[in-house]
Amino acid sequence: MAKTEKGCVDDLATLSELNEEIILQELQARYKQDVIYTYVGDILIALNPFKRLEIYHKNAAERYKMTQKSIQPPHIFAIADSAYQAMLGVGGASPKSQCCVISGESGAGKTESAKLLISQLVELSRGTSQLEQQILQVNPLLEAFGNAQTLMNDNSSRFGKYIQLKFQQGPWLLVLRFLNTFWKNPALYVKAVGRRTSTFSITCLLVSPLMNKTSMD
Ligand SMILES: Nc1ncnc2c1ncn2[C@@H]1O[C@H](COP(=O)(O)OP(=O)(O)OP(=O)(O)O)[C@@H](O)[C@H]1O
Ligand SMILES: [Mg+2]
Repeated sequence: MAKTEKGCVDDLATLSELNEEIILQELQARYKQDVIYTYVGDILIALNPFKRLEIYHKNAAERYKMTQKSIQPPHIFAIADSAYQAMLGVGGASPKSQCCVISGESGAGKTESAKLLISQLVELSRGTSQLEQQILQVNPLLEAFGNAQTLMNDNSSRFGKYIQLKFQQGPWLLVLRFLNTFWKNPALYVKAVGRRTSTFSITCLLVSPLMNKTSMD
């Protein structure tokens, strides 16, 4: 049987053999072709391209609306679409609330991914009203307050985030709630005081009374 060329497989779960080395080789081959998204079953692996790719424009958003995940190449918009369809109960399943978890190391692209995911969900819910657009604009404002420059990321989110979107029957986006949850690695960032931006200092000053003495030292 002919071997599939490296980087051509959209869903690594379909490979007959899967281990860390194979995963890394496949991801590297795709990354070299500016293909940053890859599935492993229901999970989407997103690599940070560190440059603007032409894959988030209006046409792309349209292509990933109410479609089947396997028809289009892997994309964060497809995850939004799957979650949205599952929430509505498209295809006969009962409608259910959905949860998407975005994780990765600092600078991996979690905040960017969350932004893209929400913008596609708004797009899917036909949320074009001024209110919905304004809701989307709140995120950068909250990020600006909680963010700091670190060695890993010029614009690092210092808080984990829980973002809740509620849809009314329609279904239109009704409300979007942001909640800063935990503070990430306090000790690590306090060590960086003096080299960091004023945003960092504000965050540090506000949260420092909550930290224990050892991590401030
Ligand atoms: N899909 C993308 N396309 C283009 N640039 C991206 C993408 N994802 C991330 N980046 C770039 O990488 C930078 C870091 O990404 P981001 O702030 O999302 O990381 P993060 O995972 O949220 O990090 P932290 O945990 O430190 O907050 C962004 O400011 C952006 O310049
Ligand atoms: Mg972030």
